[in-house]
Amino acid sequence: MIEQIQKIGNELSGYEFKAVEDTEKFRIQFLGSKGQIKGLYTMLREVPNDQKKEIGQQINALKLKAEHMLDEAKKKLIGTSTYQSKEDLTRPAAKLPLGSHHPLSIVRRDIIDVFKKIGFSISEGPEIEDDWHNFSALNFPPEHPARDMQDTFFIKKGENEIALRTHTSSVQVRVMENNQPPIRTISPGRVYRNEAISARAHCFFHQIEGLYIDEGVSFADLKQTLLFFAQEVFGSSAKIRLRPSYFPFTEPSAEVDVSCTICKSKGCNVCKYSGWLEILGCGMVDPNVLEASGIDSKKYSGFAFGMGVERIAQLKFKVNDLRMYSENDLRFLEQFKSTL
Ligand code: DAH
Repeated sequence: MIEQIQKIGNELSGYEFKAVEDTEKFRIQFLGSKGQIKGLYTMLREVPNDQKKEIGQQINALKLKAEHMLDEAKKKLIGTSTYQSKEDLTRPAAKLPLGSHHPLSIVRRDIIDVFKKIGFSISEGPEIEDDWHNFSALNFPPEHPARDMQDTFFIKKGENEIALRTHTSSVQVRVMENNQPPIRTISPGRVYRNEAISARAHCFFHQIEGLYIDEGVSFADLKQTLLFFAQEVFGSSAKIRLRPSYFPFTEPSAEVDVSCTICKSKGCNVCKYSGWLEILGCGMVDPNVLEASGIDSKKYSGFAFGMGVERIAQLKFKVNDLRMYSENDLRFLEQFKSTL
């Protein structure tokens, strides 16, 4: 047994580590579960009891020595691998197919980022909506044409009507019902209208609604907010103009045009030689709407606006056919790869 210990001791002392791979060989040979030192411990069981202590100590010392040698060798050799790959590591890697963001997602994100900068939060509501949130609370009279079958996809007619929302203004109502001013929020989402599909109309599209309610909010705040938005999205030279209009839920109401980004207002077929492009509807929230949602219209005032995401995308990316957005044609979608 003593001889055996000495023999292994000598082997250890004479061991030469040449390369990093030798450290693993060494570990297996001496310290592994079938290694020589493990073997000595097995033999120890057969040693008479009065010698066990001394021999045991010798084996322990041998084990410590081997462990120490291994540590030292690793410290010295790691990072000096002499391993040579048979592959050509300079070869360019195989290309992974990359997807791209949908143009509507890109534009929605850009618009949200603009309003986040000026403190707007994001809120969402359901696409299947009741009459109250889509129409009644927004001051639509019962005979209003927008409620007509021609515009709205109804899910349940008659009492407690349920329909696919026709605009994201419904989310305004939900936000006001659940929060007291100050309210500053934008609501992106998909909306549905019963229209024949063509290059200029679709049965579903996307809107972003804005709502700002507080004490003393004025039309000037609305105008400045929209100018900031237009210049962030279309560039610092963009101008806006407001034309009087009508919406049941705002009073006064306006439609907003932005100076034509395509011809720089010189006149082209996109702006129909007017130099202006319509981008959104807006106005001061009608006091009836505030009251319907539990907000004191004597104390608070506010503005709202709603824009079509497809429309802004059309102007940014010069896409003239609305159908492209939902056809999933890779030849179209792949063109947005470089737009982060
Ligand atoms: N909901 C309108 C639409 O779908 C857009 C709109 C106009 C929203 C004026 C507003 C607003 O908040 O004030 O055509």
